[in-house]
Amino acid sequence: MNYYIITGASRGLGRAIAENLLEKDNHLFCISRRINEDVVTDAGMKDCRIDYFEYDFNFLEEMDMLAETIFERVNFSKAKTICLINNAATVKPIMPVGKYPIFDIISNTNVNMVAPMLLISEFIRRTEDANCDKKIVNISSGAAKKPYYGWGSYCSSKAAIDMFTACVGLEQKNAVNPVKIVSFNPGIMDTEMQSDIRQSSVENFEMVEKFIEYQHQGALKSPDYVAKKLLELLHNNEIKSGMIYDINEL
Ligand SMILES: NC(=O)c1ccc[n+]([C@@H]2O[C@H](COP(=O)([O-])OP(=O)(O)OC[C@H]3O[C@@H](n4cnc5c(N)ncnc54)[C@H](OP(=O)(O)O)[C@@H]3O)[C@@H](O)[C@H]2O)c1
Repeated sequence: MNYYIITGASRGLGRAIAENLLEKDNHLFCISRRINEDVVTDAGMKDCRIDYFEYDFNFLEEMDMLAETIFERVNFSKAKTICLINNAATVKPIMPVGKYPIFDIISNTNVNMVAPMLLISEFIRRTEDANCDKKIVNISSGAAKKPYYGWGSYCSSKAAIDMFTACVGLEQKNAVNPVKIVSFNPGIMDTEMQSDIRQSSVENFEMVEKFIEYQHQGALKSPDYVAKKLLELLHNNEIKSGMIYDINEL
């Protein structure tokens, strides 16, 4: 059995990843604030086991219980693969620093950075004795490397998750049953996150016109195309742990 934990599976890239993994030999654990019932129905039609957890990464106190519930459903003696895909994120707040409402900066950091770090830590601890194929993919962004006016929180949280990937990669090199961990920059995609970006005011996000243009030019990739590329990478045993991969370089 192949086990996949996918955060942010209700829409966009996370949903596309889940839909591409709906197979009989796979068991999916999907997490987001809202359950996407269509994904659950599709799983039933494809005879794929799915456990969907409604969980809000703004509230992290019960993360260990969430991890406990997930990992007690993993049959380690039959596991061929166990994967964690940290995909859930928010681009908000989109505004220059100084205008941030306090909750928004905490929320951005919790969802984009703290929740993935906690899940990675739980994953490593709870799979320590398993010698099957173990992989983690953190969804990054070009914003991890390039500063954008109005995206201070988002850019910083994505840069942090890339550094965390590199650190964990280093630590896992000499582990007995190592976990391979990578970051993946999906490029710009046609999702709700892009529509949130396009709705920004120019005062809060200087490049808003350019992002509106991207859509008009058809420059946004479909989540399904990106999901397929991501899964090719995930299933490639040559991937180098600790690295940051970019869809445009694959
Ligand atoms: N779209 C782009 O152009 C682009 C570019 C570069 C990188 N990325 C990255 O790609 C990934 C996917 O982005 P996307 O465009 O598919 O985003 P999206 O359409 O906005 O979807 C975000 C997902 O995250 C979940 N989520 C958000 N807040 C959450 C919370 N508090 N607790 C739990 N789940 C939460 C959402 O589910 P609920 O609302 O149901 O909770 C949703 O499933 C993200 O990591 C993003 O940073 C996107």
